[in-house]
Amino acid sequence: MKAVVYRGERDLAVENVPDARIENPLDAVVRITTTNICGSDLHMYEGRAGVEEGKVLGHENMGVVEEVGDGVQHVRVGDRVSVPFNIGCGTCRSCNEGWTSFCERTNPIEGMQGAAYGYANMGPYAGGQAEYLRVPYADFNLLQLPPGEEHENDFTMLSDIFPTGWHGVELSRFEPGDSVAVFGAGPVGLLAAHSARIRGAGEVFVVDQHADRLELARQIDTTPIDFSDGDPVQQILDARGGAPVDRGVEAVGWQAHDPSGQEHPELVLDNLVSVVKAHGGLGVVGVYVPQDPGAPDEQAADGRVGFDYGTFFTKGQHMGTGQAPVKRYNRQLRDLILAGVATPHFLVSHELSLEDAVEGYAQFDERREGWTKVLLRPDGGVAAA
Ligand SMILES: NC(=O)c1ccc[n+]([C@@H]2O[C@H](COP(=O)([O-])OP(=O)(O)OC[C@H]3O[C@@H](n4cnc5c(N)ncnc54)[C@H](O)[C@@H]3O)[C@@H](O)[C@H]2O)c1
Ligand SMILES: [Zn+2]
Ligand SMILES: [Zn+2]
Repeated sequence: MKAVVYRGERDLAVENVPDARIENPLDAVVRITTTNICGSDLHMYEGRAGVEEGKVLGHENMGVVEEVGDGVQHVRVGDRVSVPFNIGCGTCRSCNEGWTSFCERTNPIEGMQGAAYGYANMGPYAGGQAEYLRVPYADFNLLQLPPGEEHENDFTMLSDIFPTGWHGVELSRFEPGDSVAVFGAGPVGLLAAHSARIRGAGEVFVVDQHADRLELARQIDTTPIDFSDGDPVQQILDARGGAPVDRGVEAVGWQAHDPSGQEHPELVLDNLVSVVKAHGGLGVVGVYVPQDPGAPDEQAADGRVGFDYGTFFTKGQHMGTGQAPVKRYNRQLRDLILAGVATPHFLVSHELSLEDAVEGYAQFDERREGWTKVLLRPDGGVAAA
């Protein structure tokens, strides 16, 4: 089968690899209809996440079940499914408590909890930027979708970024009526803002410097803030007559930068501590890593990010962090799509064949104007063997 393979820093290839197959009786094989490129993939693409050469990428996957193992009881061949990016075993303590993002069994790396498809340090699992994907513990992990092709571009956001955006809002301990500042207007930030709107936020601000992304923020009825026009904290305070916001969502990650592009891993955390009220909350879903080979300084290379903890403590704020447990939210978000309440397809800017993935990565990596969210269609454009 054809797949997107990591060859080295900013070097991908679409190659033939061994077919995905049933390796365990609880597995299913899914024929991929849509698989997305994610901001998280760029950490690997840029050589900042230590992924091994030869890895098949892709953790945002959906498709149709092609084959099931002997132990699979509920999922059937022909089912249309969304594949959460987390691989949960379904039986460990974390999975039982609803935190599949910290599954205790599926990641064999010592000291690591939580596994994912096609990702550095997240276990030996191939990704779904390919014609087919092997899904472990299929009954537990797969989310059923209505058959057919309707809502494909909405449902494809259920594997990661819609639940992740929702989780960012949840981690901030959001309540209806709250005002929210979302930092980052990439796909995750925009869907956090969309989630806050759906959940009944008062005011929602979205901070970035890319005009096209800020325009999307405006289209979903939130207030865009361009940080190249000046301190974003001051801009938000000015817009609110000096009042801080109730909640903040971090959807940027450790490669946060100033308007010139210089990286400052603490920058957005500092902004959030300033702009959120005392006893308010911060939901951090942008990724921070324990080791970064390309960090701007020695501290950050070891994952030590010196943000303004003193003010954070003094203000009595709280912070929630980490990978999103997709299964906690994906059923409800699917149903909000079916009800016409959630429309996460507004992000989609490009729908490419698998063959065009290399170009898609390059453009998305440059945050080139108009490249907001790239979908790959392994079964269209590229003839299945
Ligand atoms: N926790 C999870 O489960 C999870 C899941 C998916 C993605 N992520 C992470 O979420 C983050 C965002 O993902 P994405 O796909 O939207 O990525 P993205 O790279 O497309 O978006 C990040 C945005 O942040 C903006 N930005 C940079 N510096 C900024 C600053 N100082 N202030 C405000 N905005 C700034 C960039 O211009 C960019 O538009 C990444 O770190 C990604 O790895 C986490
Ligand atoms: Zn993702
Ligand atoms: Zn588990």
